[in-house]
Amino acid sequence: MVQEVERYPKATRVLHWVHTGAFVALFVTGLILFVPPLGALAADSWSRIIHRVAAVLFIVAPLIYFPLNWKASVGGIKDAFTWGKDDIGWLKAAPRYYFLSDEAAMPPQDHMNTGQKMWWFMVLVFGVVFAISGLIMWFAKTTAPPELLQWMVLLHDVAFITTGCMLFVHIYLSVAHPMMRPLRTGAWNSMYRGKVSVDYARSHHGKWYEKIARGAEKS
Ligand code: HEM
Repeated sequence: MVQEVERYPKATRVLHWVHTGAFVALFVTGLILFVPPLGALAADSWSRIIHRVAAVLFIVAPLIYFPLNWKASVGGIKDAFTWGKDDIGWLKAAPRYYFLSDEAAMPPQDHMNTGQKMWWFMVLVFGVVFAISGLIMWFAKTTAPPELLQWMVLLHDVAFITTGCMLFVHIYLSVAHPMMRPLRTGAWNSMYRGKVSVDYARSHHGKWYEKIARGAEKS
């Protein structure tokens, strides 16, 4: 039997999928509002209603998760903002890894690799940008100065285009890239069942695996 280690607890996986669902609904309904030829689809306003319902889910889900999982959340944020020489090494080795499937120069990674740190950073920054600009457009449409509203639409659009591109990269790397293919590595299991094989942990997150192996020895 394949030996496995726990990577994400249930609460983290639930947040990931709820947030992903809300984001995809926001992305699709946002696209309908953003692209003029799709305007007819927004005519009876169902897309605006779905956009607002999904926005509530998008904002409330992390607000419930964070206080209930304080230690993991603070740890995750700290990891995302802590960079060292292995992150620089990762950035240097990334083009050969992603384009030539050559992992020889990849330095060992912690629980979060450098690419995941960048993704987390984007999610945190743009999550706040979406929420603030969206809430102002929603609740202050008739009271805020027009210049402020214009800035909010612009910020919302920049966040939409940037995170939309990042989402496709994230999905491609998670499910289709030859080095990451879930059937090859079992990486899919980490967000599905919360576990990955020891082989995967050792090869993709060597530093993290060392820590759990040491912890297991002590206990
Ligand atoms: C986080 C909470 C969010 C809130 C509160 C929010 C709220 C809003 C509101 C009130 C509007 C104006 C809709 C209208 O014209 O009736 C809007 C537009 C839009 N939203 Fe969001 N939104 C959020 C997140 C997102 C996300 C995550 C995306 C995409 C990934 C997105 C993409 C868009 C786009 C593209 C538009 C059209 C902007 C334009 O007219 O140029 N929104 N949003």
